[in-house]
Amino acid sequence: KQTAFSGAMIGKGEYRHFMQKEIFEQPAVIGDSLHSFLDPLSGTVQLPDLGIDFSAISRITISACGTAYFAGLIAKYWFEQIARQPVEVDIASEFRYREAPMPESGLGLFVSQSGETIDTLEALRYAKRCGQTILSLVNVPESAIARESDAVLQTLAGPEIGVASTKAFTTQLTVLACLALATARARGSIDAAREAALSQALLEVPARVAEVLNHDTTIRMIAADMMEARDVLYLGRGSLYPIALEGALKLKEISYIHAEGYAAGEMKHGPIALIDEDVPIVVCAPAGPLFEKTAANVQEVIARGGKVILISDAEGIARAGDEAAHVIELPPVDPFVAPLLYTLPMQLLAYHTAVLKGTDVDQPRNLAKAVTVE
Ligand code: G6P
Repeated sequence: KQTAFSGAMIGKGEYRHFMQKEIFEQPAVIGDSLHSFLDPLSGTVQLPDLGIDFSAISRITISACGTAYFAGLIAKYWFEQIARQPVEVDIASEFRYREAPMPESGLGLFVSQSGETIDTLEALRYAKRCGQTILSLVNVPESAIARESDAVLQTLAGPEIGVASTKAFTTQLTVLACLALATARARGSIDAAREAALSQALLEVPARVAEVLNHDTTIRMIAADMMEARDVLYLGRGSLYPIALEGALKLKEISYIHAEGYAAGEMKHGPIALIDEDVPIVVCAPAGPLFEKTAANVQEVIARGGKVILISDAEGIARAGDEAAHVIELPPVDPFVAPLLYTLPMQLLAYHTAVLKGTDVDQPRNLAKAVTVE
């Protein structure tokens, strides 16, 4: 089942695949999504009038599927840390059947590129029956999910043709970051200086994302190594843990290599048993408060012969890059916006690995762009 957009109407331009084009469009579409919510002059988020009082929400319950679910997981870190707003996140196909009690004054937030995913739509209907205010974040404003919502926010990703989601994900993150800032202001959990600093960090994301795209050639070389692997592990902590999940999903979807994303701290509770010299381990670990912990996990992996691909900033690479098989150096940024940047190497690694393997990148086997049947 297709979305409202059709590949027949949209060209690939200079690119070989829609996915590649969509990856490289990200500085522009993140910028578009950002500028519709963030006023660069005042340095503050200005949401349209959604008719929702964000100071009075008891709990936000996020439901989504696939990549959109990972956007929800990251949003949970942001809402909790910046806005001190309790949040639950569920996979929509689980949420709709688990008969979760829902709080008074709760907000149901549904994230979907297509706005047509049946499990997300049914989760929305359940939340509505439970008296929640319904807010959706969609890329297709005339979609079923948008129609059944009390309020709608739109990502300005433009048509996404590649089945594996790329720019829809980063624009979802962009809007969710703005929503977290607006919620923080409404709840009085952020002061003006911090709000200005985080807004500034967001406004710089398009330029930083463009810098990350300059690593395309390096990442293609790393992919040449990765294409031989049977299994790949992805590790991250904090808001980069969902990025590890997304990295593994991207690789599985389009290269058909088995991949798992793990919270770095969970390594010793199972996945470390898989490590040998044939299993590449992609580690997302910018320098910061969680770095030492992740570096210790990296050491454990290297000690067992694992081949680490370390994605970090200059400081992190100086501290832990020596023994890594490969490093990808990203610009140093505020941890708030790190998930947006660290997504890019995940996408490019999966893309180049798939191209080298000769798979159908834009139309991977067994997958559909929008899943409207159960
Ligand atoms: C399908 C797509 C994924 C997408 C998921 C959710 O599985 O292949 O790329 O993340 O559906 O789609 P949605 O349109 O609800 O974001």
